[in-house]
Amino acid sequence: MNVNAKIILCGEHAVVYNKPAIALPLKGLDIYCEISNSETNTIDCELYKGSLDDCPNDLMNIKEIYYHCLKKLNKINNKHHLKFISKIPIARGLGSSAASSASLIKAIYNFYDIKLETEELFNLCQIAESIAHYNPSGVDARVITTNKALYFSKTLGFKSFDFNLKAGILIIDSGIIGKTKEAVLKLKKLKDANPLKVNKILDQIEMISTKCYKLLKNSDLKAIGHLMNKNHSLLSELDLSNETLDNICKIANDNGAYGAKLTGGGLGGCVIVLCELADLTNLKSLFEKLNYSCYEVRYD
Ligand code: MEV
Repeated sequence: MNVNAKIILCGEHAVVYNKPAIALPLKGLDIYCEISNSETNTIDCELYKGSLDDCPNDLMNIKEIYYHCLKKLNKINNKHHLKFISKIPIARGLGSSAASSASLIKAIYNFYDIKLETEELFNLCQIAESIAHYNPSGVDARVITTNKALYFSKTLGFKSFDFNLKAGILIIDSGIIGKTKEAVLKLKKLKDANPLKVNKILDQIEMISTKCYKLLKNSDLKAIGHLMNKNHSLLSELDLSNETLDNICKIANDNGAYGAKLTGGGLGGCVIVLCELADLTNLKSLFEKLNYSCYEVRYD
């Protein structure tokens, strides 16, 4: 019942406006939900331990999807204890909200021994994502429920592909909470106020995702890294980055990375860095010395 986190390699935010994005599952950085019978509905997770009905607002997606699933399965009178065991940092653009709801949905269906098709898991996960975020494109729920590398578009659908780059991806946690809902709303306001400027930038991001998808087939790390840097600058122009994220990208690029960018909603959260496998350990210790938490992913 483990569900992996995700990263967006390119195209976040533009994907909300029907442009393509590329997303990858993060194997090993995962969440697990365990469910058992109980006298009352209770929850135990990193954010909160106690009655599900009294949970904080940040867990509203979990509470709502829990009751939604029980109603759907005609089990609404049954009570459960929900325990989440997670390695995914919360609110860091790594898909913790979609992964927690997917792990809960899977746990409920498994508990009652009911078959759950991937499409149904996606639809249920999207219901929870609509509570957690404003106007979710579906990219997080799609990559998390398929657990495959995806070229995704809201309108055209998604294609899974083999991610067979020989490369390292270092994920650096800025330590600042990422605010996806706020970021999506911020971009909407900017787009309403200045549609020409924003549409031009979104078109440029679209070109990046299209090119990147082609380059992935040839393992052209240098060109992909260049596109990641360009994507980060465009997200910065949309005011979705900050000084810390820009600085992390600069340090990575100054120290031999092919490219770096924020991933997910932005305004905080994580930076992803593309580098040679041989450089991964050195880059990781450099950022750890600067007191950042890092996760390394090896594609070999
Ligand atoms: C969040 O991981 C990705 C965004 O593009 C929002 C979305 O696609 O729903 C920022």
